[in-house]
Amino acid sequence: MTDQTLTVRDNRTGEEYELEITDGTVRASDLGKIGKTEDEPGIAVYDPGFTNTASTRSSITYIDGDKGILEYRGYPIEQLAESSTFLEVAYLLIHGELPTKDQHDAWVHEITFHTFVHENLKSLMQGFRYDAHPMGMLLSSVGALSTFYPEARAITDEEVRHDQVVRLIAKMPTLGAWAFRHAQGKPYVYPDNDLSYTENFLSMLFKMSEQKYDPDPRLSKALEVLFILHADHEQNCSTNAVRSVGSSDVDPYSAVSAGIAALYGPLHGGANEAVLRMLKRIGSKDNIPSFIEGVKKGEERLMGFGHRVYKNYDPRAKIIKKAVDDVFEVTGVNPLLEIAQELERIALEDEYFVQRKLYPNVDFYSGLIYEALQFPPEMFTVLFAIPRTAGWLAQWIELVDDKEQKIARPKQIYTGARTLDFVPAEQRWA
Ligand code: CMC
Repeated sequence: MTDQTLTVRDNRTGEEYELEITDGTVRASDLGKIGKTEDEPGIAVYDPGFTNTASTRSSITYIDGDKGILEYRGYPIEQLAESSTFLEVAYLLIHGELPTKDQHDAWVHEITFHTFVHENLKSLMQGFRYDAHPMGMLLSSVGALSTFYPEARAITDEEVRHDQVVRLIAKMPTLGAWAFRHAQGKPYVYPDNDLSYTENFLSMLFKMSEQKYDPDPRLSKALEVLFILHADHEQNCSTNAVRSVGSSDVDPYSAVSAGIAALYGPLHGGANEAVLRMLKRIGSKDNIPSFIEGVKKGEERLMGFGHRVYKNYDPRAKIIKKAVDDVFEVTGVNPLLEIAQELERIALEDEYFVQRKLYPNVDFYSGLIYEALQFPPEMFTVLFAIPRTAGWLAQWIELVDDKEQKIARPKQIYTGARTLDFVPAEQRWA
């Protein structure tokens, strides 16, 4: 017997069970043996929101929430944001290692030459109402991509899988930019394969009648940094959605569209949009104390603060705070920045936030940058979904290759009525 075990005594029966501890976890299936009889199921774990349940083994992203550490495949996020590119990071996430020069060039070439989408998909997008939320358009069009590539169902064929990974990473900026242009009633701009990933995205967003769009390198660099920061974040709500849906062996377009749907929600990717609305509502520094009081009374949340995993300053928020200065140098300062900084200063000193370890998260400052880049708030989540696609796909590949994974199917504790007698409507309403 090793000491890596947990002894559990079932006081209902007096029986003792020895559960193996591996990597700080016990297997739920071992718990299921406790108290199991022919008529009764064994003990299960009740964990709404999976706050203390590991759903997978993963070697993609490491987070130490207490220390504020984030690493992709072992590389600190600060170093990647400083010196890498988004496509190199995407390669790292998907393949597990940094590319050689040849691998890198081939990867960039492939992604660059898959940026165009089928013209029918363009027609599909044009069918949306003039005021359609771009995230709703993105999630539908990514789902629709599965109908253009039916071979994507062969999820265990590595070559087929690679093609879909390339297509998805390549086409996301095109779909995202078109959703943006749609809302403005502007013509959709086709990709420009001479430009880098983020430059091309800017071109598809903002190009008008000029022959060639000439993006400001400071802005494309800032976008590159933001894309790197958002590329993966282990088992968050949307990644869990991709894995859960992917566990049915569906094609990656459908699985990724489930991730986009999850990201749409205000508690996840929609938080930066909510931050900006909050800052606008606060309106001036004078109103901050009364706003904070409202938060402390539980009337509302301080959006962009708090995190399920980080109980320290989110390392991504630190990097974004630096990028804010670079962007504002080009665009001019957003007056909301003052309110955000003051809000952060007050919250970080306030007992309510200190006690609960609530610090700024990635969304607190990203909305300000996006607004300075002239994105309407509805686009913020789209800007999150584009780079996160690399992480979702890395996680999806890991899932498909993981022999231990099964179709996701949590248990429930049933609390409803039982064995009622159904009385037909005509008798009930008589
Ligand atoms: N403002 C005020 N109070 C808060 C906040 C907040 N932003 N976040 C948590 N709390 C309080 C909460 O009321 C609770 O207090 P009490 O113990 O008195 O009931 C305590 O802190 C613990 O909160 P929780 O809701 O149990 O924590 P959680 O892990 O379930 O929620 C969260 C995490 C991110 C959903 C939450 O902090 C939140 O709603 N934040 C605002 C929304 C936001 O910024 N979301 C973006 C997250 S980062 C995006 C990403 O990484 O993908």
